[in-house]
Amino acid sequence: MDCLTYAGNLRNLTAVADKPGYTFTRANICDRAALDALLDEHRPRAILHFAAESHVDRSILGPEAFIETNIRGTFVLLEAARAYWKTLNSAEQQAFRFLHVSTDEVYGSLEPNDPPFCEETPYAPNSPYSASKAASDHLVRAYFHTYGLPTIITNCSNNYGPYHFPEKLIPLMITHALEGKPLPIYGDGMNVRDWLYVGDHCRALRLVLERGRPGETYNVGGRNERSNKEVVAALCAILDELRPDSPHAPHRQLIRYVKDRPGHDRRYAIDATKLEQELGWRAQETFETGLRKTVQWYLDNAEWVREVQSGSYRDWMDQNYTTRGEMAAQEHTR
Ligand code: DAU
Repeated sequence: MDCLTYAGNLRNLTAVADKPGYTFTRANICDRAALDALLDEHRPRAILHFAAESHVDRSILGPEAFIETNIRGTFVLLEAARAYWKTLNSAEQQAFRFLHVSTDEVYGSLEPNDPPFCEETPYAPNSPYSASKAASDHLVRAYFHTYGLPTIITNCSNNYGPYHFPEKLIPLMITHALEGKPLPIYGDGMNVRDWLYVGDHCRALRLVLERGRPGETYNVGGRNERSNKEVVAALCAILDELRPDSPHAPHRQLIRYVKDRPGHDRRYAIDATKLEQELGWRAQETFETGLRKTVQWYLDNAEWVREVQSGSYRDWMDQNYTTRGEMAAQEHTR
């Protein structure tokens, strides 16, 4: 089920559309009647809750949608799940899972020498986006403690990989570089993120669904801390290699330092020891192998990129980037 708002795209599901276990419903998680009908029809043994407004910059320019989908939507989904769960027999109730997919941003920002976030790190969200995700995590936790609904929360670091909507750092830089557009790095480019290939995240979610303990939280992270400058430099180098004849090579000439994101978290890093030790998870991709695969995917899927860069995407690009300007003296020589 998906609402198919601006980043939703049924074409992302073509590879599974013929599978016998697959069915799609377009609906909003705030729509209780739609949820009740869906649960009643399919009688699922688990709900994986990925539905969220997820882009920090959008949450800064328009927080309301984040409150509505991430907080109220999670509440409505929990209520529908609770009502459905009560109709199950006791074996089914025990086996049922509500897996809430969340983010490391709920923990706030780290100083350079701080240890990575662990499951016990106190919540300290800094953006409307992360605050809305933190609120949803608290609701999910409360439904376990109050009603016994078998919920599990995962908090994951920055994902990247195929099908990533090109408003986020990595796909934005790849698509801009291919088109010879500026590569806008916020602030000094020294903000650090812990990058995780999306396939590794999916493997973690499957494991947590199968063997995770209800009421628990599991952190998921790639142990791949990189500054934004390093990420963009690595992307430019891969593109130079894969597209040596591009008129835009060397692609690093496109780098521009632009006005920073307000309240920009300096560093995220995840300690995934619990997931590794309890469930035996390990990331299979290194940052280098994952990034190369990702660039290759965007090179091979130019039509997908063209399609998602619709009118509303262009409006967002104007809204977010035209006011940032360029910090001219601080170009890529930094
Ligand atoms: O940590 C997990 C989170 O990672 C998820 O919960 C969020 O949904 C996801 O959007 C992501 O949040 P970030 O804010 O870290 O991702 P984003 O791709 O927007 O930015 C990554 C870094 O790159 C961040 O330091 C801001 C910077 N940036 C981003 C954009 C879009 C730039 O320098 N230039 C840009 O144009």
